[in-house]
Amino acid sequence: MLRFDSVYKRFPDGTEAIRNISLQVPRGQFCVVLGPSGAGKSTLLRMLNGLSKPSEGSVYLGGELICDQSVQRLRKKVATVHQQFNLTPRMSVALNVLSGALPQVPHWRAGLGLFPASLREKACQLLDEVGLTPEHVSRRVSELSGGQQQRVGIARAFMMDPAVLLADEPVASLDPRISRGILELLHRQSRNHNTTVLCSLHQPDLAREFGDRIIAVNQGRLVFDGKPEQLTDKVCEELYHGALNHDHNKPVVAVPEFEPELEMAAA
Ligand SMILES: Nc1ncnc2c1ncn2[C@@H]1O[C@H](COP(=O)(O)OP(=O)(O)OP(=O)(O)O)[C@@H](O)[C@H]1O
Ligand SMILES: [Mg+2]
Repeated sequence: MLRFDSVYKRFPDGTEAIRNISLQVPRGQFCVVLGPSGAGKSTLLRMLNGLSKPSEGSVYLGGELICDQSVQRLRKKVATVHQQFNLTPRMSVALNVLSGALPQVPHWRAGLGLFPASLREKACQLLDEVGLTPEHVSRRVSELSGGQQQRVGIARAFMMDPAVLLADEPVASLDPRISRGILELLHRQSRNHNTTVLCSLHQPDLAREFGDRIIAVNQGRLVFDGKPEQLTDKVCEELYHGALNHDHNKPVVAVPEFEPELEMAAA
């Protein structure tokens, strides 16, 4: 279970990026984060991998305070999939995937490419799961298409069996057909590995299609929290072009009832 308790984030220049967000995300839920540019989506996600600390309030993962944990320790539990893939283009696909296990491999071994057989097998298994073939394994990442590179990024993210996966606009650089394929894959992988996903998107249609739950932020506030079918065109219109609930801290739609099995998985 992930929990934000009355969280604020103020940057030194005075920008209030997050204002009083409280939120619980049960284990295994695929939660899409919507909101206009500058709304605070990335800041919210970055508080989960320790890259940004709340100015006020607390963020918990599995009952433990995130700000008490080192970034190194958090890397074992929280993986990230990036908009620009963040792979090492000159390195092979295999080494890029294996680099997802760096938190558990001594630096000198990793530097020499000496990963244990168990991790190599796991990397192969994950590459298979994301739909890449054995012929891709030794290719340089720079020789792959954008969609294939994001598949490598997803395989890398699952190397540590993360409890949480943060996907910050994972399909923003991809065309619509490839985007759907990548979100289908993320959804399937998170189900199969019981991983909680927080995925920021700019496309409400994709949010409705793939989210178990959708939240929206605007000007740092939580302004919507509901099931996909509750994200109507009117709500989207207000979120992107109107003034959706700027003046209130309450979401416009009540927090949905969680599925019993998700609640149990979170326990
Ligand atoms: N390091 C920083 N210092 C000061 N302000 C920042 C910093 N990082 C982000 N901000 C500000 O915080 C607000 C939220 O930014 P954030 O990147 O979280 O938005 P976002 O919803 O992810 O936007 P986008 O959709 O464009 O990625 C913005 O006003 C941004 O300018
Ligand atoms: Mg962002």
